Amino acid sequence: MNELERIASAADYIRAKYEQIPDFVIVLGSGLGGLADQLKNTKVLDYSEIPYFPEPTVEGHQGRLISGDLKGKRVFVMQGRFHYYEGYSMDQVVFPIRCMLQLGVKNLIVTNAAGSVDVAYQPGDLMLIRDHIKLHGDSPLRGPNIDHFGPRFNDMSDPYSQKMRNLAHQCAEKLNINLKEGVYFYMTGPSYETASEIRAIHLLGGHVVGMSTVPEVIVATHGGMAVLGIACVTNLGTGISELKVGHDEVIRTGKAAGENLIPLVEEIVSRWE
Ligand code: HPA
Repeated sequence: MNELERIASAADYIRAKYEQIPDFVIVLGSGLGGLADQLKNTKVLDYSEIPYFPEPTVEGHQGRLISGDLKGKRVFVMQGRFHYYEGYSMDQVVFPIRCMLQLGVKNLIVTNAAGSVDVAYQPGDLMLIRDHIKLHGDSPLRGPNIDHFGPRFNDMSDPYSQKMRNLAHQCAEKLNINLKEGVYFYMTGPSYETASEIRAIHLLGGHVVGMSTVPEVIVATHGGMAVLGIACVTNLGTGISELKVGHDEVIRTGKAAGENLIPLVEEIVSRWE
Protein backbone atom coordinates (compact mmCIF):
# COMPACT_ATOMS: atom_id res chain seq x y z
CA MET A 1 0.00 0.00 0.00
CA ASN A 2 1.44 3.40 -0.89
CA GLU A 3 1.07 6.64 1.11
CA LEU A 4 -1.83 7.96 -0.97
CA GLU A 5 -3.73 4.69 -0.49
CA ARG A 6 -3.20 4.90 3.28
CA ILE A 7 -4.43 8.51 3.29
CA ALA A 8 -7.46 7.57 1.17
CA SER A 9 -8.29 4.72 3.52
CA ALA A 10 -8.17 6.99 6.60
CA ALA A 11 -10.20 9.68 4.79
CA ASP A 12 -12.83 7.11 3.78
CA TYR A 13 -13.14 6.07 7.42
CA ILE A 14 -13.60 9.69 8.53
CA ARG A 15 -16.11 10.40 5.75
CA ALA A 16 -18.19 7.38 6.74
CA LYS A 17 -18.43 8.69 10.34
CA TYR A 18 -19.37 12.29 9.54
CA GLU A 19 -22.28 13.12 7.26
CA GLN A 20 -20.90 16.63 6.62
CA ILE A 21 -17.31 17.58 5.77
CA PRO A 22 -16.58 21.10 7.06
CA ASP A 23 -14.72 23.89 5.26
CA PHE A 24 -12.39 24.43 8.21
CA VAL A 25 -9.97 22.37 10.21
CA ILE A 26 -8.43 23.88 13.33
CA VAL A 27 -5.28 22.31 14.79
CA LEU A 28 -4.79 22.98 18.51
CA GLY A 29 -1.30 23.32 19.96
CA SER A 30 0.13 22.62 23.43
CA GLY A 31 -2.18 23.88 26.17
CA LEU A 32 -4.70 25.24 23.62
CA GLY A 33 -7.11 22.32 23.74
CA GLY A 34 -9.79 24.48 25.47
CA LEU A 35 -11.20 25.64 22.14
CA ALA A 36 -12.75 22.20 21.75
CA ASP A 37 -15.02 22.92 24.76
CA GLN A 38 -16.71 25.72 22.80
CA LEU A 39 -18.03 23.35 20.15
CA LYS A 40 -21.71 22.42 20.00
CA ASN A 41 -23.28 19.26 18.59
CA THR A 42 -19.95 17.48 18.67
CA LYS A 43 -19.04 14.12 17.30
CA VAL A 44 -15.67 12.74 18.39
CA LEU A 45 -13.31 10.27 16.78
CA ASP A 46 -10.25 9.03 18.67
CA TYR A 47 -7.18 9.05 16.46
CA SER A 48 -6.63 5.44 17.50
CA GLU A 49 -9.84 4.46 15.65
CA ILE A 50 -8.74 5.92 12.33
CA PRO A 51 -6.72 3.61 10.10
CA TYR A 52 -3.02 4.58 9.82
CA PHE A 53 -3.35 7.63 12.11
CA PRO A 54 -0.39 7.97 14.49
CA GLU A 55 -1.10 8.55 18.21
CA PRO A 56 0.34 11.57 20.10
CA THR A 57 2.69 11.01 23.01
CA VAL A 58 3.11 14.52 24.51
CA GLU A 59 1.49 15.70 27.73
CA GLY A 60 -1.09 18.42 26.96
CA HIS A 61 -1.99 16.87 23.61
CA GLN A 62 -5.00 14.62 23.38
CA GLY A 63 -5.58 12.62 20.24
CA ARG A 64 -9.07 13.39 19.00
CA LEU A 65 -10.70 14.58 15.81
CA ILE A 66 -13.83 16.48 16.75
CA SER A 67 -16.52 17.72 14.43
CA GLY A 68 -18.77 20.42 15.84
CA ASP A 69 -20.42 23.82 15.40
CA LEU A 70 -18.40 26.91 16.23
CA LYS A 71 -20.49 30.07 16.06
CA GLY A 72 -22.88 28.34 13.70
CA LYS A 73 -20.21 27.01 11.32
CA ARG A 74 -19.29 23.35 11.13
CA VAL A 75 -15.57 22.75 11.79
CA PHE A 76 -13.16 19.95 12.43
CA VAL A 77 -10.93 20.42 15.45
CA MET A 78 -7.79 18.34 15.81
CA GLN A 79 -7.00 18.09 19.49
CA GLY A 80 -3.46 16.79 19.44
CA ARG A 81 -0.85 16.72 16.70
CA PHE A 82 2.30 14.85 15.81
CA HIS A 83 5.78 16.28 16.21
CA TYR A 84 8.95 15.20 14.46
CA TYR A 85 10.76 15.06 17.83
CA GLU A 86 8.40 12.32 18.99
CA GLY A 87 10.10 10.06 16.46
CA TYR A 88 7.47 10.22 13.73
CA SER A 89 8.52 10.47 10.11
CA MET A 90 7.55 13.64 8.27
CA ASP A 91 4.89 11.57 6.44
CA GLN A 92 3.36 10.67 9.81
CA VAL A 93 3.57 14.26 11.10
CA VAL A 94 1.51 15.52 8.15
CA PHE A 95 -0.76 12.49 7.76
CA PRO A 96 -3.85 14.17 9.30
CA ILE A 97 -3.47 17.25 7.09
CA ARG A 98 -3.25 15.07 4.00
CA CYS A 99 -6.44 13.32 5.16
CA MET A 100 -8.10 16.74 5.37
CA LEU A 101 -6.93 17.54 1.82
CA GLN A 102 -8.28 14.21 0.64
CA LEU A 103 -11.63 15.01 2.29
CA GLY A 104 -11.77 18.37 0.48
CA VAL A 105 -11.34 20.63 3.54
CA LYS A 106 -10.38 24.05 2.14
CA ASN A 107 -9.06 26.06 5.10
CA LEU A 108 -6.62 25.34 7.90
CA ILE A 109 -6.21 27.30 11.11
CA VAL A 110 -3.12 26.12 12.89
CA THR A 111 -2.18 27.18 16.42
CA ASN A 112 0.93 26.54 18.45
CA ALA A 113 2.89 27.48 21.52
CA ALA A 114 6.12 29.34 20.77
CA GLY A 115 9.07 30.95 22.48
CA SER A 116 9.90 34.60 21.85
CA VAL A 117 13.14 35.58 20.18
CA ASP A 118 12.41 39.29 20.29
CA VAL A 119 11.40 41.29 23.37
CA ALA A 120 8.57 42.88 21.38
CA TYR A 121 6.81 39.50 21.62
CA GLN A 122 5.97 38.78 25.26
CA PRO A 123 4.54 35.70 26.99
CA GLY A 124 0.76 35.79 26.63
CA ASP A 125 0.90 37.56 23.23
CA LEU A 126 -0.78 36.14 20.17
CA MET A 127 1.19 36.37 16.94
CA LEU A 128 -0.23 35.87 13.50
CA ILE A 129 2.31 33.96 11.45
CA ARG A 130 3.26 36.03 8.38
CA ASP A 131 5.89 33.61 7.13
CA HIS A 132 8.19 30.91 8.41
CA ILE A 133 11.83 29.86 8.24
CA LYS A 134 12.80 26.21 8.16
CA LEU A 135 16.48 25.39 7.85
CA HIS A 136 16.03 21.77 8.90
CA GLY A 137 16.89 19.50 5.96
CA ASP A 138 13.95 17.09 6.06
CA SER A 139 10.67 17.99 4.36
CA PRO A 140 7.28 16.26 4.23
CA LEU A 141 7.49 16.68 0.44
CA ARG A 142 10.82 14.83 0.16
CA GLY A 143 10.53 11.58 -1.80
CA PRO A 144 8.15 10.71 -4.62
CA ASN A 145 5.77 13.62 -5.15
CA ILE A 146 2.08 12.86 -4.58
CA ASP A 147 0.88 14.51 -7.81
CA HIS A 148 -2.72 14.04 -6.66
CA PHE A 149 -2.15 16.86 -4.13
CA GLY A 150 0.21 19.27 -5.87
CA PRO A 151 3.31 19.83 -8.01
CA ARG A 152 6.85 18.59 -7.35
CA PHE A 153 8.15 22.12 -6.69
CA ASN A 154 5.47 24.08 -4.91
CA ASP A 155 5.17 27.81 -4.57
CA MET A 156 5.70 29.25 -1.07
CA SER A 157 5.04 32.94 -1.74
CA ASP A 158 1.81 33.11 0.32
CA PRO A 159 1.83 30.11 2.67
CA TYR A 160 -0.11 32.05 5.34
CA SER A 161 -2.94 33.51 3.30
CA GLN A 162 -2.83 37.30 3.15
CA LYS A 163 -6.60 37.33 2.82
CA MET A 164 -7.07 35.33 6.01
CA ARG A 165 -4.50 37.47 7.83
CA ASN A 166 -6.39 40.62 6.85
CA LEU A 167 -9.59 39.14 8.24
CA ALA A 168 -7.79 38.06 11.45
CA HIS A 169 -6.56 41.61 12.02
CA GLN A 170 -10.08 43.00 11.52
CA CYS A 171 -11.48 40.46 13.98
CA ALA A 172 -8.76 41.20 16.58
CA GLU A 173 -9.47 44.92 16.29
CA LYS A 174 -13.19 44.39 16.80
CA LEU A 175 -12.56 42.23 19.88
CA ASN A 176 -9.88 44.56 21.22
CA ILE A 177 -7.28 41.78 21.17
CA ASN A 178 -3.64 42.71 20.71
CA LEU A 179 -2.63 40.60 17.70
CA LYS A 180 0.97 40.84 16.56
CA GLU A 181 2.34 39.53 13.29
CA GLY A 182 5.74 38.00 12.63
CA VAL A 183 7.94 35.17 11.44
CA TYR A 184 7.89 31.68 12.97
CA PHE A 185 11.21 29.88 13.06
CA TYR A 186 10.96 26.09 12.98
CA MET A 187 13.26 23.97 15.14
CA THR A 188 12.79 20.23 15.45
CA GLY A 189 13.56 20.06 19.21
CA PRO A 190 13.01 18.40 21.58
CA SER A 191 15.73 20.41 23.33
CA TYR A 192 14.81 24.04 23.77
CA GLU A 193 17.30 26.30 21.98
CA THR A 194 20.65 27.37 23.33
CA ALA A 195 21.12 31.09 23.99
CA SER A 196 23.36 31.27 20.90
CA GLU A 197 20.71 29.62 18.73
CA ILE A 198 18.15 32.17 19.96
CA ARG A 199 20.54 35.01 18.98
CA ALA A 200 21.10 33.40 15.56
CA ILE A 201 17.35 32.97 14.97
CA HIS A 202 16.83 36.64 15.80
CA LEU A 203 19.58 37.67 13.37
CA LEU A 204 18.02 35.50 10.66
CA GLY A 205 14.65 37.23 10.97
CA GLY A 206 12.63 34.98 13.30
CA HIS A 207 10.35 36.54 15.91
CA VAL A 208 9.22 33.38 17.66
CA VAL A 209 10.47 29.79 17.65
CA GLY A 210 8.63 26.51 17.92
CA MET A 211 8.67 22.80 17.14
CA SER A 212 5.53 22.28 15.07
CA THR A 213 3.30 23.78 12.37
CA VAL A 214 5.75 24.17 9.49
CA PRO A 215 5.57 20.60 8.11
CA GLU A 216 1.75 20.78 8.27
CA VAL A 217 1.68 24.16 6.53
CA ILE A 218 4.01 22.98 3.76
CA VAL A 219 1.70 20.08 2.97
CA ALA A 220 -1.46 22.19 3.27
CA THR A 221 0.03 24.76 0.88
CA HIS A 222 1.13 22.01 -1.51
CA GLY A 223 -2.50 20.82 -1.62
CA GLY A 224 -3.92 24.32 -2.14
CA MET A 225 -5.41 24.97 1.30
CA ALA A 226 -5.67 28.53 2.67
CA VAL A 227 -3.75 28.64 5.95
CA LEU A 228 -3.93 30.88 8.97
CA GLY A 229 -1.29 30.36 11.66
CA ILE A 230 -1.48 31.77 15.17
CA ALA A 231 1.40 31.39 17.62
CA CYS A 232 0.78 31.83 21.35
CA VAL A 233 3.93 33.19 22.93
CA THR A 234 4.40 31.09 26.06
CA ASN A 235 7.93 32.04 27.17
CA LEU A 236 10.99 34.08 26.38
CA GLY A 237 13.64 32.16 24.44
CA THR A 238 16.73 30.91 26.22
CA GLY A 239 19.07 33.71 27.23
CA ILE A 240 16.50 36.49 26.77
CA SER A 241 15.43 36.03 30.38
CA GLU A 242 17.33 34.57 33.33
CA LEU A 243 14.67 31.86 33.66
CA LYS A 244 15.02 28.36 32.30
CA VAL A 245 12.46 27.31 29.68
CA GLY A 246 10.16 24.52 30.87
CA HIS A 247 7.19 22.59 29.48
CA ASP A 248 5.01 23.43 32.53
CA GLU A 249 5.36 27.16 31.82
CA VAL A 250 4.57 26.54 28.14
CA ILE A 251 1.33 24.71 29.03
CA ARG A 252 0.32 27.26 31.72
CA THR A 253 0.88 30.36 29.58
CA GLY A 254 -0.64 28.59 26.56
CA LYS A 255 -3.86 28.15 28.55
CA ALA A 256 -3.86 31.85 29.56
CA ALA A 257 -3.21 33.03 25.97
CA GLY A 258 -6.03 30.69 24.92
CA GLU A 259 -8.49 33.05 26.59
CA ASN A 260 -7.94 35.50 23.73
CA LEU A 261 -7.33 32.85 21.12
CA ILE A 262 -10.73 31.24 21.50
CA PRO A 263 -12.90 34.33 20.78
CA LEU A 264 -10.50 35.36 18.00
CA VAL A 265 -10.74 32.02 16.20
CA GLU A 266 -14.53 32.00 16.68
CA GLU A 267 -14.81 35.44 15.11
CA ILE A 268 -12.56 34.52 12.17
CA VAL A 269 -14.46 31.31 11.42
CA SER A 270 -17.84 33.01 11.65
CA ARG A 271 -16.82 35.82 9.28
CA TRP A 272 -14.86 33.79 6.73
CA GLU A 273 -16.80 33.49 3.45
N1 HPA B 1 11.40 26.97 21.87
C1 HPA B 1 10.89 26.04 21.03
N2 HPA B 1 9.63 25.63 21.06
C2 HPA B 1 8.82 26.17 21.97
C3 HPA B 1 9.27 27.14 22.89
C4 HPA B 1 10.63 27.56 22.83
O1 HPA B 1 11.11 28.42 23.60
N3 HPA B 1 8.20 27.48 23.66
C5 HPA B 1 7.15 26.75 23.21
N4 HPA B 1 7.52 25.94 22.21
